[in-house]
Amino acid sequence: MKRPLIVGNWKSNKTSAEVLSWMKDAGEEKVFINQFPGQIVICPPYPYIDLFSSEVKKQNLRIAVGAQDVSPFELGAFTGEVAAEQVKEYASFVIIGHTERRKYFLESDELLLKKAAHAKQVGLSVIYCINDEDTHIPDGVDVFSYEPTWAIGSGKPDTPEHAALVINNLKKLHPTLLSLYGGSVTKDNVLSYLSQKCIDGVLLGGASLEFESFFSLLQALT
Ligand code: PGA
Repeated sequence: MKRPLIVGNWKSNKTSAEVLSWMKDAGEEKVFINQFPGQIVICPPYPYIDLFSSEVKKQNLRIAVGAQDVSPFELGAFTGEVAAEQVKEYASFVIIGHTERRKYFLESDELLLKKAAHAKQVGLSVIYCINDEDTHIPDGVDVFSYEPTWAIGSGKPDTPEHAALVINNLKKLHPTLLSLYGGSVTKDNVLSYLSQKCIDGVLLGGASLEFESFFSLLQALT
């Protein structure tokens, strides 16, 4: 079995109490988590990144921290934005170009290219989301995540075979990048994606929210 990259994106969910409750449950499964044969990354909402990463350190958990987005600009007068330099103080990964950013915030390929370049410059590992084979993957990306819009949060995932076809084609163009599949991944279907040779991991939304479902997904892989 490969050492998969498992990324949990909490989106705009959770209060601080819920973050702490997730961390408490994670602490109780510390041995399992720290021996999990792969890399776990959790991307909490901005206000809880510090809380989450402090808890990870305090409990000595082998979980990396990611942000869900980043500013295309440097530090400065850009109200409401969080610069890559600031993200880097708390996180090592960043998701860029998630479908919800493209759909609800109208983020363009041009803007996302700037985000990726800047994030890379400060040393963040960039997870770049694309909806199909035709979406441009810019320089500076470390991991691309194929997630068809219709599969996100719908309970209707792409088939592992089709996801593998798309990812395989993308890997021909970007052979050094790691690949994820995202969109309605659950404990019941996760293995079918990871058993595809070209898929290096999964990006989870719903299945990462409750620790119990996240944990049972990890268990399905061991
Ligand atoms: P989902 O979200 O797992 O809830 O479908 C996936 C994603 O947003 O990448």
